[in-house]
Amino acid sequence: MYNGGKVLIGILVFLVLISSPLWYNMAMDGSDYQIELEKAVRGDDCVRDSAWMKANHMDLLNEWRDQVVRNDERFEIGSDGVQYERSLSFTCLSCHENKDKFCDRCHDYLGVEPYCWECHIVPKEVQP
Ligand code: HEC
Ligand code: HEC
Ligand code: HEC
Repeated sequence: MYNGGKVLIGILVFLVLISSPLWYNMAMDGSDYQIELEKAVRGDDCVRDSAWMKANHMDLLNEWRDQVVRNDERFEIGSDGVQYERSLSFTCLSCHENKDKFCDRCHDYLGVEPYCWECHIVPKEVQP
């Protein structure tokens, strides 16, 4: 006789593991996170459509970095027609002023740890 309970648990664990990318995608797409994010201090929308930003901001940041580091192209016109400096610290965090309650809160919730802040400064930290 085998232990039916253990087999059942084994099957459940297997199902959870195999379906976790699906759950992850649901978390990424679903408009309602279980967390409260601080509102941006300015702007009606993000530098791109905010739904797009939610899923793709890391790609935009990579693009910005490449444009600055490789091409020395420091400015762009956003989808709202406003000119933005391609800067992680000075542009993103000028609207999302509270990194703790915006970027970090979401990343902590989802278990993401961007290493950017080893080099890039968080503006608030340098203020007296
Ligand atoms: C080892 C240090 C280091 C790390 C880690 C790092 N960067 Fe940078 N980054 C730089 C340097 C140096 C520049 C060039 C600064 C300049 O020319 O203004 C730069 C420029 C940039 C720029 C364009 C200019 C600006 O001021 O924002 C972006 C955007 C950027 N990095 C994003 C990122 C992101 C996103 C991460 C994390 C995923 C990251 N970087 C991690 C060193 C780093
Ligand atoms: C001009 C101000 C402004 C700038 C600059 C800006 N944002 Fe936004 N961002 C907003 C607004 C407004 C929203 C909509 C949600 C809100 O009101 O807080 C938003 C939404 C977002 C979202 C989706 C949040 C959610 O609730 O799903 C992410 C992620 C994001 N921004 C990241 C960034 C990053 C990364 C940068 C820099 C590349 C950046 N933002 C630059 C104003 C800005
Ligand atoms: C609505 C939730 C949410 C908010 C708010 C948010 N992020 Fe993210 N961020 C994510 C998710 C999810 C990932 C991981 C995506 C992946 O791994 O494909 C991520 C990944 C990143 C990465 C790439 C990290 C890596 O190691 O690949 C960077 C850089 C980043 N975010 C920067 C920011 C900055 C800067 C802010 C605040 C201005 C911010 N994010 C706000 C959800 C968010």
